[in-house]
Amino acid sequence: MADEYLELIKQRKTCYSIKAKSPVTDDRIKQVASEVIRHSPSSFNCQSTRYLILLGDEHIKFWKITKECFKVTLSTEDYKGYEMKILDRQAAYGTILLFEDLDTIREYQKRFPRFVWHLQAFSEHNNAMSTFNLWTALCLEGFGCNLQHVNPTVDQRVVEAWNVPGSWSLKAQLVLGTPTGEPGHEKSFIPAEERIMVSGFDTND
Ligand SMILES: Cc1cc2nc3c(=O)[nH]c(=O)nc-3n(C[C@H](O)[C@H](O)[C@H](O)COP(=O)(O)O)c2cc1C
Repeated sequence: MADEYLELIKQRKTCYSIKAKSPVTDDRIKQVASEVIRHSPSSFNCQSTRYLILLGDEHIKFWKITKECFKVTLSTEDYKGYEMKILDRQAAYGTILLFEDLDTIREYQKRFPRFVWHLQAFSEHNNAMSTFNLWTALCLEGFGCNLQHVNPTVDQRVVEAWNVPGSWSLKAQLVLGTPTGEPGHEKSFIPAEERIMVSGFDTND
């Protein structure tokens, strides 16, 4: 049974060579995102993760805002190198912004004072779990995706442009489009034996 799941998660890869086309309808993107956000686990089932799905012109607007933000915050030299990267992301079909709702986290911190510090970390974990599921699901729909982190530089502009609630804290951006080539990078693997310790194995089975 697990082998089927393992084959599916192997299909999630970072892909930078993507174009501004979608292999599925926009409704399907929303449907997949809705299922992922519903079924991804969260601490105390607090459901703190939020998405903003930006497609077409709205996606382009996001990357234009990103360009403006980095132009004023980076040195001219650093910006020159970074601009090409941003234009590359802009050439995709859409971007899903992943947030954590800090009001939800604060509410659970009040309810479970013993877990105040854990809940702060759990919020990041909640977001990461949702990100992984979303990334995998969209790859299975035929998208090429890559994960970006232009927060916090763009945070204030995002709130202004899309009227996002002030309690939503931006954590990551998943860029998606139709793949135009193979995933761009060779991945090396540290042997699992160096990363997993085992104890108490019954070797007679
Ligand atoms: C927490 C996390 C943060 C990442 N941040 C970025 C990023 O800011 N920009 C980027 O291009 N890739 C980012 N990546 C993608 C990783 O570089 C990529 O997942 C890794 O090289 C393994 O390749 P794979 O995604 O093809 O398995 C991030 C991945 C993770 C899990």
